[in-house]
Amino acid sequence: MACVLGIDVSTTATKAVLIDETGSVRGVAASEYGFDVPRPLWSEQDPRLWWDGTVAAIGSVLAATGVPGGDVVAIGLTGQMHGLVLLDERDAVLRPAILWNDQRTAAACDEIRATIGRDRLIAITGNDALTGFTAPKLVWVRDVEPDVWRRAAHVLLPKDFVRLQLTGDHAIDKADGAGTILFDLRARDWSDEVVDALRIDRSWLPPTFEGPTVTGVVTTAAAMATGLRAGTPVVAGGGDQAANAVGLGAVEPGVPALSLGTSGVIFAPTDRPIVEPGGRVHAFCHAVPGRWHLMSVMLSAAGSLRWFRDTLAPGEPYGALTDAAGEIDPGSDGLLFLPYLTGERTPHPDPLARGAFVGLTVGHDRRHLTRAVLEGVAFGLRDGLDLMVAAGMPPPTRIRASGGGTASPVWRQILADVLGVELATVATAEGAAFGAGILAAVGAGWHPTVEAAAGAWIDATVAAAPGPNAAIYRDRHAVYRGLYPALSPTFRSA
Ligand code: XUL
Repeated sequence: MACVLGIDVSTTATKAVLIDETGSVRGVAASEYGFDVPRPLWSEQDPRLWWDGTVAAIGSVLAATGVPGGDVVAIGLTGQMHGLVLLDERDAVLRPAILWNDQRTAAACDEIRATIGRDRLIAITGNDALTGFTAPKLVWVRDVEPDVWRRAAHVLLPKDFVRLQLTGDHAIDKADGAGTILFDLRARDWSDEVVDALRIDRSWLPPTFEGPTVTGVVTTAAAMATGLRAGTPVVAGGGDQAANAVGLGAVEPGVPALSLGTSGVIFAPTDRPIVEPGGRVHAFCHAVPGRWHLMSVMLSAAGSLRWFRDTLAPGEPYGALTDAAGEIDPGSDGLLFLPYLTGERTPHPDPLARGAFVGLTVGHDRRHLTRAVLEGVAFGLRDGLDLMVAAGMPPPTRIRASGGGTASPVWRQILADVLGVELATVATAEGAAFGAGILAAVGAGWHPTVEAAAGAWIDATVAAAPGPNAAIYRDRHAVYRGLYPALSPTFRSA
């Protein structure tokens, strides 16, 4: 049975998904690992965990399905974005990888803005310097760890470290490349101006490829380790957000996607590079050749609900909690929740932003608080959507939604009402790994384009539509928008 393999190198596990020629998922396996917090705000991982996890996940999925490794005709890679892997000239790991959720680089971000000019940086890369991105991590190593810097010879992202072990090649896809903010967004390649200004050696940066393009083939050593066939092509793939969008079928303008996991991401494909002048919305290359995307990122979306459940309703099933919130009227009787529990990226790129309940009275019970959390997350997502539309994206009428949060019918309805769009769900729950599999299927020649593959393999079903409560939410959203400016000084003094 011919199959393609999608591999997702995430922060918590490496997942392998085996997909057959009809687009059906034949098997899924994951191998989990942890990440280190050696100091407050730091977040690191040993790259070798990713390769061990990949070997384990591939072995498990082949064993569980009985599919011979030789039947895998192509492999697609995806993974956590923005992480910095530094290797020496022999490809030895020089220091633990610094991950996307590491917050040590505030000073490096200021330095990048001062060196290049914030407006110029946004004009070239489409983005402001944010602590999560790769370029500030490089500047941090340059300034703080000169011994590591002197020995550096290669910069890779997490999934591309796995690619190196699989194929022996240094390579990166355009979506993850843009997420470094060392990219010229329009040219879809490294920006000499930015790279030179930050005193990064251009030879450290790998060649860049479109998502479905083959970057190399499985080596004999990797074949021995994984059970795959030597010579199996590996496509470029994409960062997890771009690959997740491919897996949802958000591959062309007018079909945006919402991912409601720990973070809440609205991802909108565009046919040209659209940039939000304030740099509050990310603008990266899509994993679809010749397309870009806008992306708003809320750091604590379903993460806010998890915090609320764990803290105030421990052990309560999410379904029971959100169903009970459905007994409360829209607007939560005047209670508002600000979801910036771990700082924020969109619409306020502010690591010091904090969460809040505002408007509490003795009339509120746990159901009101839950509903306020669901509504506050929806308002924050709407802020992101509004910024994208203001930047030039046509207002969407339907969004493809995924992630644990979309399991709740109450939350789905709130989202449809607040965002003013139909929410559609898709059959597969394998997200980014499935998207990487689609890119591999195009690379294998099963489909002529990513759009054709998505059209053939992905069905979307409408799960909620805007209803009569939309007007109430418009008013509440206006009040919500006043909270961050009003409370911001208190966040800074906390
Ligand atoms: C996207 C981002 C996260 C990581 C998580 O900008 O930082 O989605 O890629 O894996």
